[in-house]
Amino acid sequence: MPSKRAMETSPFSAMDVLERASEREGVVHMEVGEPDIEPPAAATEAAIASLREGNLDYTSSRGKPELRKSIADYYDRTYGVDVPPERIIVTPGSSPALLVTMLTTVNPGEEVVLTDPYYAPYPNFVRQADGRVSTVTLDPGRDFEPRVEDFEAQVTDETAAMMLNSPANPTGAVMSGDTIAELVHLAERTGTRVISDEIYHGLAYDAPEHSVLEYTDEAFVLDGVSKRYGMTGWRLGWVVAPPDEVEAFNRLVQNVLICAPNFVQDGARAAIETEPSWLDDARETYRERRDLLLDAARRWGIDMGYTPAGAYYLLLDVSDLPGDAFEVADVFLEEANVAMTPGPDFGSMAEDTLRASYATSTEDIELAIDRLDDLLSEFTAETHLSRS
Ligand SMILES: Cc1ncc(COP(=O)(O)O)c(C=O)c1O
Repeated sequence: MPSKRAMETSPFSAMDVLERASEREGVVHMEVGEPDIEPPAAATEAAIASLREGNLDYTSSRGKPELRKSIADYYDRTYGVDVPPERIIVTPGSSPALLVTMLTTVNPGEEVVLTDPYYAPYPNFVRQADGRVSTVTLDPGRDFEPRVEDFEAQVTDETAAMMLNSPANPTGAVMSGDTIAELVHLAERTGTRVISDEIYHGLAYDAPEHSVLEYTDEAFVLDGVSKRYGMTGWRLGWVVAPPDEVEAFNRLVQNVLICAPNFVQDGARAAIETEPSWLDDARETYRERRDLLLDAARRWGIDMGYTPAGAYYLLLDVSDLPGDAFEVADVFLEEANVAMTPGPDFGSMAEDTLRASYATSTEDIELAIDRLDDLLSEFTAETHLSRS
């Protein structure tokens, strides 16, 4: 019998939908957050060269010094903040880093405050650290910008951390610098940690992005090469830890992760050192796709009245369509060959939604829109969608 902890870990619907969608022909995949951009060529070349040089052994658990230096330079160049490489620990992707962060920060029974909607695995990570989840609900009418007073109402003596994610999955919302600054201030007043998942940084279209590191050193900041450089399968992330918690974090990394793959670290360094303008075209393409999809959602009457300013997700309100979000996702897949993720995984505020990812090609998005035009017009003629 698997442990209670394992049994309480919920599956990730996006992966379930992907599995089912992959069994069909001609599906437009809008269920996963897999960027369709090619990594910088220099990254591939550096990784291959490093592999050929035989860099196949373990590295320090903290990561190669050259990579940590180049991550520190990235923070200086991008946000004008001085992050000493000693506070940076490289990990095999940011997902295990999230778990290790929870294990470092949460004592059994303590709480982590999440925004709702949240990235689906967050509550699982909190529970795996024997923590409890509390939530702050976000309102699409405010572009999913958190209210500081809502966080304040959730913070108690038992709160270990508040978790921020901007640009956010699943909403695509980008938090303002003022809100981040106020939340940091709240954390300082209440002795709460801030954990900031910045994996979508670099992918903001209409709003400036701010790193929590602009406001404090006392935060765990997670990032990596997956989204910004289109390098999901390379499995390379990092954490910037507060000065007093780096050593504890590293002890867990030594035991659980050992290190990120050696030659991948060299490829990642080349990606991070790529000219920032490299991303301009990709960003513009994402913005155009977002507008295409948002226009269609408005026409279908399933938009939520907000414009996602970053990442590559749009939440759609499907409460007026027959069936629950899982059933609507089934109908989209089976009748229109369009795969989207049912919202309930992302929290109670996303219960009646689907998450559409526009990280797929523009042609595919146009195809999905045509197919859904047909399906939803049949629905409005009340002839097609059926409650199962
Ligand atoms: C908000 C968020 N954080 C973390 C991750 C995990 O990224 P990585 O590939 O670095 O494990 C994802 C992946 O979709 C994500 O959406």
